[in-house]
Amino acid sequence: MAESMKGLKRSHRCGELSAADAGRNVTVMGWVQKQRNKGGIIFVDLRDRSGLLQIIFEESDCGAENFAKAEKFRSEFVIAVTGTVEKRAGAVNENLTTGEIEIRAKDTRILSEAQTPPFPVEADSKTKEELRLKYRYLDLRRPDLQGNLILRSNIAAAIRLFLTKEGFLEIETPMLNKSTPEGARDYLVPSRVHAGSFYALPQSPQLFKQLLMCAGYDRYFQLARCFRDEDLRADRQPEFTQVDMELSFVDVEDVIEVNERLLKYVCKEAIGLDVALPIPRMTWREAMERFGSDKPDTRFGMELTDVSEAVKGCGFGVFTSALENGGSVRGINVKGQAAMPRKKIDALTEFAKGYGAKGLAYLCVMPDGTYKSSFARFMTQEQLDGLVKAMEGEAGDLLLFAADRTKIVWSVLGALRLEVARQLDMIDPDAYHFLWVTEFPLLEWSEEENRFTAMHHPFTMPMEEDLEYLDTDPGRVRAKAYDIILNGTELGGGSVRIFQEDIQEKMFEVLGFTKEDAHERFGFLLDAFKYGVPPHAGLAYGFDRLVMLLVKAESIREVIAFPKVKDASCLMTGAPDVVEEKQLEELSIAIQVQDESGLS
Ligand code: AMO
Ligand code: AMP
Repeated sequence: MAESMKGLKRSHRCGELSAADAGRNVTVMGWVQKQRNKGGIIFVDLRDRSGLLQIIFEESDCGAENFAKAEKFRSEFVIAVTGTVEKRAGAVNENLTTGEIEIRAKDTRILSEAQTPPFPVEADSKTKEELRLKYRYLDLRRPDLQGNLILRSNIAAAIRLFLTKEGFLEIETPMLNKSTPEGARDYLVPSRVHAGSFYALPQSPQLFKQLLMCAGYDRYFQLARCFRDEDLRADRQPEFTQVDMELSFVDVEDVIEVNERLLKYVCKEAIGLDVALPIPRMTWREAMERFGSDKPDTRFGMELTDVSEAVKGCGFGVFTSALENGGSVRGINVKGQAAMPRKKIDALTEFAKGYGAKGLAYLCVMPDGTYKSSFARFMTQEQLDGLVKAMEGEAGDLLLFAADRTKIVWSVLGALRLEVARQLDMIDPDAYHFLWVTEFPLLEWSEEENRFTAMHHPFTMPMEEDLEYLDTDPGRVRAKAYDIILNGTELGGGSVRIFQEDIQEKMFEVLGFTKEDAHERFGFLLDAFKYGVPPHAGLAYGFDRLVMLLVKAESIREVIAFPKVKDASCLMTGAPDVVEEKQLEELSIAIQVQDESGLS
């Protein structure tokens, strides 16, 4: 039996009341967290998004009819209560903001009843994520998710306020587009009017924001929804939100400067965090050399050391053949872990193999100064001493080495360094380490496609001092591109854009586009550039990632109201789903179902 709201008006949210309100007559509404019937007295914890509030029902205050209603309350019933704020007679609850008070009910209504929920609506739920996502509307009632989404809203507001004050205009760009060149797979939308043609949902507003610069808008931003059909991970969703921006008449320093102040402002507003400026910077090269990663987690050390020199000419074939093939040998020093059991080292070796390693060589510096190692038998004492010295190895240390092509060595040790740090609890969970990584390579060699691809995107400006190599040695050209890293996660990235036609054409050439290809795909941008284009640059943050890191969530699913799971489906609505034959006909689409062999 649901009662109406007639004549009722909520006066406060539950969490808004405090001892200062004692004596006031209030009306609150929300969900029953818990009802405890102690005979002549009923306690109810009432919940809304602002918190919990204790209500007391006694027949002498509220009369028999209201008391009978309170006896019927079950978890998740939606009720309204009118009563008086009182200081608690019983013990104060330190865990609640409203812990000093309670409401003595005079009147109540049951606004709606509720079935028993499939899992308890409470903080720190141990409920399986599949079940939580199936009943996301219940999951979203939990205070931790509500806290995350409230903070998300506050962060968005802070970003809007800051950027607006800095002269940025918020401008929306279209969702139904021609395919953009961000590198992931597009989500396509069939056109009804143009049978056989498709729109692509934006992977980012990249081209449109560059056009807005051409159009003279000077500073643009948008909280833009982006779509990428790629393999999902904890920090990736098929649709996600970017804080996207573009600025005219600027270079790298200007973009970094305004974004440092933005980050400082937002972190302070959102979680009271003081970010020290300037944020440290590192070139891509240095990041790879020291951390084996272009998004280094600098909350701990254990940096990589290149020991190629030290092992040159030694008797260990694994090392020497890597060097002969143009690769390198590098290691990490796991301080004080010489006693790590063999089983654990083997597990790390398996982990390394997951990143392309052929093996993992180890050397333990024993407390007595002797070595225990998988390769000591191939090297002289002098060579081993030299290697340990190069690694700054001391008694008790465990040294781990990878030998291969340098790209593989970096990726293996970069990942191993993180894994070891996690296992050994070396990471301070309360630290926030921001870092700019700059001077990315402009191009990346793709083994699959047997050609260079743009590391960021094809509109990224090469560094002036490297322009001369664009013809002769494209692989060594560095870009005016930068990423902002937080605790080892890529929070955002951007670049200065090419605005000169000749450089853009050269870039397309290096990427293997013919003039016709380039015009077919990006003609409208190239044309726009012919009518007066300002130098411009920009950056985009992964907004979900920013919120995830600031609330210390494990996954971006914890900061997105209705996320998708690993296979890009929605467990609540069942999307994606088949559609009616008639809809397909309108779109001139015929479905060909493939069997498991991939044949139709
Ligand atoms: P980029 O491709 O680096 O740059 O994307 C910018 C940021 O968006 C976030 N991000 C994602 N977040 C969640 N799920 C995903 N699938 C996902 N993919 C990317 C990351 C990333 O750093 N147009 C350029 C920006 C520019 O040059 O101005 C761009 O999109 O945090
Ligand atoms: P093996 O002689 O094959 O038994 O290898 C000796 C040691 O070298 C083992 O600990 C292997 O795991 C390790 N190893 C093999 N290949 C590599 C490699 N590419 N880099 C580092 N260590 C390796």
